[in-house]
Amino acid sequence: MRQRPRVFVTRSLAGPALARLAEHGDVDVWPEPTALPPAVLASRVAPAEGLLCLLSDRVDAALLARAPHLRAISSLSVGVDHIDLAAATARGVPVGHTPGVLTETTADLAFALLLAAARRVPEADRCVRDGHWRPERVWEPDLLLGRDVSGATLGILGLGAIGRAVARRARGFGMRVLAWSRTPRPLEDLAGGVELVALPELLAQADFVSVHVALAPETRGLLDAETLGAMKPGAILVNTARGGIVDEAALAEALRTGRLAAAGLDVFAHEPLERTSPLLALPNVVLSPHIGSASRATRTRMAELAVDNLLAALAGRRMVACANPEVYDAHERPETGHSRPVSR
Ligand code: NAP
Ligand code: GLV
Repeated sequence: MRQRPRVFVTRSLAGPALARLAEHGDVDVWPEPTALPPAVLASRVAPAEGLLCLLSDRVDAALLARAPHLRAISSLSVGVDHIDLAAATARGVPVGHTPGVLTETTADLAFALLLAAARRVPEADRCVRDGHWRPERVWEPDLLLGRDVSGATLGILGLGAIGRAVARRARGFGMRVLAWSRTPRPLEDLAGGVELVALPELLAQADFVSVHVALAPETRGLLDAETLGAMKPGAILVNTARGGIVDEAALAEALRTGRLAAAGLDVFAHEPLERTSPLLALPNVVLSPHIGSASRATRTRMAELAVDNLLAALAGRRMVACANPEVYDAHERPETGHSRPVSR
């Protein structure tokens, strides 16, 4: 085996993390500030033992088949729906991700979208910029009336790390909080402020619904025409998880007719959002370009964790945060605590 493993990194990252990676490996970094084409990804990853990728890089079985030396994949994201985990596991390749370090930052954005949608902040901003706030209309009793957040009911889909962080914020805003979760988990850290309910009950009662489940076959299209139709009339939807969880056409129709009052969306079925999307024409939608974890400090922590994951795996140790820990299960070396993924 080479002393210094070859690593391919699909985007140059700010901060010191890549320099640390370069101390331990021969690092090839895609230099452009744009997503690299799939064919280029395949050719650059072919000689690599390690891959540090973004959530916009599709790492599927075909790509893995073209990367015979690959021993570790590390993604600068907590979500790993862009990676074929089963294929990586079958190959014995651990997949690293970045849970925890982005939780609060992403919850902040979910709450920002909730508040912006409730209080129509983008419409208010446009009103001022576009010169509609005129002297004869200096204070209007019914200008841009929105929804109260305080006292409203929030329904959280998925009580994982970010769902819980949103629940804590909601309690601070005086909201009643309902949650639906596949796995009931202890709620002590939420100080008794969250009621676990079934999905139909949550949809029927929540004034706001915030989506925090991972994208998986079971959650794809979870909010389709039927479940969106089961939401409380006039409710507001926030999605900072993944676009594929919501049927965008059904959502746009519900927003167009006023069946739902508004939505705040950071993620979309196709990213970037297509210029033909009906969502773009709706004033009651607040849109952001997948920036949930986008604070300087959090992106720095994500880069550090992504590099930690890669370096650990390339040195034969367990990743700090591994999305497919089963890759280690049958291959732990008890005498050292080191892990040797399945050989190819
Ligand atoms: P997490 O702690 O792992 O929580 C994931 C949640 O999804 C858990 O409640 C989990 O339920 C649920 N879930 C997973 N698979 C499921 C399935 N098949 N059916 C039903 N529920 C399922 O992750 P997190 O850190 O909170 O992140 C959640 C998601 O947010 C990520 O997966 C990612 O897609 C998204 N995200 C987006 C941004 C952004 O920039 N907009 C930033 C960070 C994260 P269990 O507890 O039962 O496993
Ligand atoms: C962002 O979407 C992430 O999964 O980290």
